[in-house]
Amino acid sequence: MNITSTPNCSLHGVANCPGDKSISQRVLMIASLINDQMKIRGFLHADDPLCTLSSLNQIGADIEIDKKGIIRIKKRKKPFINSKKPLDLGNSGTGLRLMLGMTSGLGLELSFQGDTSLSSRPMGRVIKPLIKMGVSMESLNEMLPIKIFPSKLKRSFIYELPIASAQVKSCILLAGLASGNSVTVIEPIQTRDHTERMLKNFGAKLEINSIEGKNVIHLKEGSSLHAKDYQVVGDISSASFLIVGALISKSKKLKILDVGMNSTRTGILKVLDQMGANIHITNLRVESGEPLADIVVHESHLKGVELRGSIIPNIIDEIPIISIAAAFAEGETIIRDASELRVKESDRLKAISAGFNKLGVKYKNFDDGIKIYGNPASLILSNPISIDSYDDHRIAMSFLIAGLKCNKPITVTKCMNIFTSFPNFIELTSSLGYQIEK
Ligand code: S3P
Repeated sequence: MNITSTPNCSLHGVANCPGDKSISQRVLMIASLINDQMKIRGFLHADDPLCTLSSLNQIGADIEIDKKGIIRIKKRKKPFINSKKPLDLGNSGTGLRLMLGMTSGLGLELSFQGDTSLSSRPMGRVIKPLIKMGVSMESLNEMLPIKIFPSKLKRSFIYELPIASAQVKSCILLAGLASGNSVTVIEPIQTRDHTERMLKNFGAKLEINSIEGKNVIHLKEGSSLHAKDYQVVGDISSASFLIVGALISKSKKLKILDVGMNSTRTGILKVLDQMGANIHITNLRVESGEPLADIVVHESHLKGVELRGSIIPNIIDEIPIISIAAAFAEGETIIRDASELRVKESDRLKAISAGFNKLGVKYKNFDDGIKIYGNPASLILSNPISIDSYDDHRIAMSFLIAGLKCNKPITVTKCMNIFTSFPNFIELTSSLGYQIEK
């Protein structure tokens, strides 16, 4: 599926923020383990969480979606079951890594598969700690296809993360929760803490301490959780496309409702503030243990920024759209310490550079980042151009937003993956004044 932009548009009006993908994935798994009746509202009905939902039902969970889109968790009558058919996590790294932890903890025998992108992503980061925990598993050079076998896990397991990864942290916590064993995860750099918040929200015995500057997360043995209805907050990673779109286009005012404001995810707002963005936060409140707010954005004159070190995990999913903001900012933007971008749904540093080549944006590559030479003026292209999304939702949406600042239409190719995280992107941007068409 290719999508083409319309020149000379802007983003304005009021938007509902789509549900948070990370939280939607986690709540399905944790609610299935709690195994009692529960309603989940605000869920993201996108391909990634829906793959997790069907995988959970395949191993015996009883999850339904009602006519209003509310997720209904039913009480299972039987224990979880093995499945001869592989669990297919599609494009979702979070789905796969977290499900590996949960199902290993349950002692199931399963095999896992995914699409071409997921099959080429590194899984050693979760395979290594799970094997240390006692899980017996097979993989193809630490990639998919992966098989797990029923195993007895260590009663107490301590692991220090060698890379900053919320997925690895959550995989271990879910293995501990599902097996009833105690686990301690030490994270040197803070990553998104949705799993910890959700476990606490449902009553788990979880302790978090800061020791010598590191986060030490301890889940006690036999942590039992209690069912209650859950509200998923909006996804700030999805909101970021709209925010940057309003900042770089002639937007009078764009308001985005119900955006998740967890401080392990709001690095994008700090970065944009440093760049000179005119953004206001209103109506701050808390739902199901996660803060949320409404965000008001006006067109702004942006300037370049330097990003490296501990902020990077906080903005890792937003770097493609920050790169677009940087391309239309005054001065240089430097992004370093971001080599993780090379192993996301695509090699995002390569994909950003390839798109910039087409647009004529000047940049310099590093192994772990990029330097972007920005220019606030609209891009004058002599012809309509086509940009490869590399089958990556965040690359596709980033370059479609760049189309707001181009005098000619841009066609972004292979955009199907937008459905993994932001299924109503086309309809929503169109309703906000930016016509993009299949
Ligand atoms: C996610 C964590 C991040 C992020 C991904 C979602 C999660 O990955 O890039 O899109 O839901 O835990 P890492 O934890 O591997 O950095």
